[in-house]
Amino acid sequence: MKVTVKANTNIALVKYWGKKDENLKIPLNNSISMTLDKLYTITTSDISDNDQDQVIFNNKEASEISKNKIIKFVDIFRNQYKRKEKLIIKTENNFPTASGLASSASGFAALAKSINEVFDLNLSDIELSKYARIGSGSACRSIYGGFVEWQKGKKDNGEDSYAIQLVKENYWDVRMMVVIIDDKQKDKSSTDGMKETVETSPFYPAWLDTIDNDLNNVRQGILDKDLEKVGITMEHNCLKMHSTMFTTRPAIIYWKPATLAVINKVYELRKSGIQCYFTMDAGPNVKILYEQNNSEKIKKEIMSISEITNLIECKVGSSALII
Ligand code: PMV
Repeated sequence: MKVTVKANTNIALVKYWGKKDENLKIPLNNSISMTLDKLYTITTSDISDNDQDQVIFNNKEASEISKNKIIKFVDIFRNQYKRKEKLIIKTENNFPTASGLASSASGFAALAKSINEVFDLNLSDIELSKYARIGSGSACRSIYGGFVEWQKGKKDNGEDSYAIQLVKENYWDVRMMVVIIDDKQKDKSSTDGMKETVETSPFYPAWLDTIDNDLNNVRQGILDKDLEKVGITMEHNCLKMHSTMFTTRPAIIYWKPATLAVINKVYELRKSGIQCYFTMDAGPNVKILYEQNNSEKIKKEIMSISEITNLIECKVGSSALII
């Protein structure tokens, strides 16, 4: 049985940065994200007659590294559910991979759901979220649409570390603009970056100490549809995360000059009365949160920055689904 799944990526408003368990990808803090409708992965899984798995990535035979990652993930299901079948997996992102645009989030969410279907496992979204988490932490949030919280959980085996939906995609009509500054593969993966930060940044404890406050503000801000509350907290949270990176040894700096140019433009826009707020992940690209009525003005201003040639305007996206 051949099955195709589409999963949207997500961008964290309160970030996940730091693991309690590297293998199981259990985080040291909760995080809250928005699912984006325009950046997604489409994955088709099918039972193969061969004695080996086959992985096609963006229409080409996958590299050894990607193939091994994907097969290791399928093996978790094969071991758990005593399945022997080999698979043909075709996966495609509609946006650049490993550039801080959260391709692994949509990728592992789509893969988990497609394996669930092809092996007919009938797993709940919570179970799928836990499996997706083992693929790539933030993927656990991409099982759902709307606004989503990943609860770090308390158990050492990760059984209670999964995401839940806070509100559906039609609850609040906000936009997120992804401003592409550099779409090349990043030098340092988020996995290595967060490990080094936890181990060496003297400011990492402050990150953990202040996270509950950020989570409470963003959760409440989403429920109240309060853009200012969500936006101000999101910016502060992102700058705290990057401050822990800057103070890692050796320092981790994902920013490019254009990253600061976009940040300054967001401040200028706000001064002129247009509500918009920025966030960044493990890469130089900036994401801006705003309401639809300001869309045209913000696009025009961002495109006036000479280094910026491409932006993607997203609405709140839906859950991973079979297509
Ligand atoms: O799940 P990973 O390994 O891609 O890590 C994601 C880390 C951030 O994007 C920086 C933050 C987040 O919560 O998505």
